[in-house]
Amino acid sequence: MDYFQYRGKSLYCEGLSVQRLSEKYQTPLFIYSRRTILEHFFKLKKAFKEISPLICYSVKANSNLSVLKLLVEAGAGLDIVSGGELYRAKKVKCPSQRIVYASVGKTSEEIEKAIKAAIFMFNVESENEIKRIDKVAGKLKKIVRVSLRLNPDVEPGTHEYITTGKKETKFGIDEKTVQKIIAGAGKYRNIIVAGIHLHIGSQITEGTPFVLALKKVKGLIGRLPKGIDLEFLNIGGGLGIVYDNEKPQTAGQFAENVLPLLKEIGLKVILEPGRFIIGNAGIMVTRVLYNKESLSRRFIVVDAAMNDFIRPSLYSAYHRIEAVVKNKESSLNLKKPADIVGPVCESGDFLGKKRKLKIREGQYLAVFGAGAYGASMSSNYNSRRRPAEVLVSGKKSYLIKKRESYQDLIRDEIII
Ligand code: LLP
Repeated sequence: MDYFQYRGKSLYCEGLSVQRLSEKYQTPLFIYSRRTILEHFFKLKKAFKEISPLICYSVKANSNLSVLKLLVEAGAGLDIVSGGELYRAKKVKCPSQRIVYASVGKTSEEIEKAIKAAIFMFNVESENEIKRIDKVAGKLKKIVRVSLRLNPDVEPGTHEYITTGKKETKFGIDEKTVQKIIAGAGKYRNIIVAGIHLHIGSQITEGTPFVLALKKVKGLIGRLPKGIDLEFLNIGGGLGIVYDNEKPQTAGQFAENVLPLLKEIGLKVILEPGRFIIGNAGIMVTRVLYNKESLSRRFIVVDAAMNDFIRPSLYSAYHRIEAVVKNKESSLNLKKPADIVGPVCESGDFLGKKRKLKIREGQYLAVFGAGAYGASMSSNYNSRRRPAEVLVSGKKSYLIKKRESYQDLIRDEIII
């Protein structure tokens, strides 16, 4: 459920016309619905109410400060993966005891900053990392809580690039090594091994991979030596959403699938959803620059490109694309399916392929499901300025990121 709906022929975000927003803020433009973000967060919270988990929104999905603030004020914690994300978490005053930190490559500097910020927990991804954290914590005279990220070797049934819980991937630690680290944890004087972390992939539409991974955790915990008491189980993110005709599990079904095991395991639970909260709470609007016909294809050339929204190019991801204001069927005679492409100089620069769209030059298209991994993965490739971002709440819109200027593009460069 989201609050991007057509009223007659015109797309609205909550109470505002997307056409008007696009004219006001110009394109390419990301538009987010505040109400959708909050509803998704509260759906998950409600589904897991019985065990009241800590829900740490995954900052990488959309790291705009206003989005983070909204979620933190609604009670969310934050799942971070870098010093930059820690900086953002602090900017929105996320209580430090609600911050968890994953990543296979934390630098000593990042570890130090996170310890000084008194974050709740590190999710550790290798034995050498735990040694490094122990050393930095020792220097700072602090005791630090960590969870060990288990690589359960489970197939999540998603795109290869966003599969993270299989043994071929760089993520997490195999069970044998997890057991070894836990058994020898006494030697890390500045560390408490407090839990297990899992994150098996992203855009997972089925419940089974989560259940299989949790069964592995249960087995692992059952095999721990006596006297070792873990306190937390972080089950990561990964919940899939609807982009096309997927039928992903709902928050309620997800909870139904995993709650029995979580209760058997009996640890305090942490969740790290990203896409589920923000994915369908955002669209990207782009303006048609040219209709173009080549010998074999029809193209709709738009003002947004792979630098603004890379999911189609990078993962061949499908995103629904529709006219912001639908034309009368008879007014246009463009029946041939078209590729929607941007101005970037690469053939991989497309937002959609073979779409039937009746659209004129100057009109706007909405790319749906662009809230997650859209703006946060945008770049300046081809010296393009990254888009503006707007948050809509009812009948009000707020500019939450200005479109970059040409000065921004060269701000940090040095001519010698
Ligand atoms: N926790 C950890 C440790 C993660 O690495 C991730 C995402 C999440 C939580 C949140 O996952 P989510 O609930 O959003 O699935 N750029 C890709 C997705 C990469 C996901 C990376 N990790 C895409 O556009 O599909």
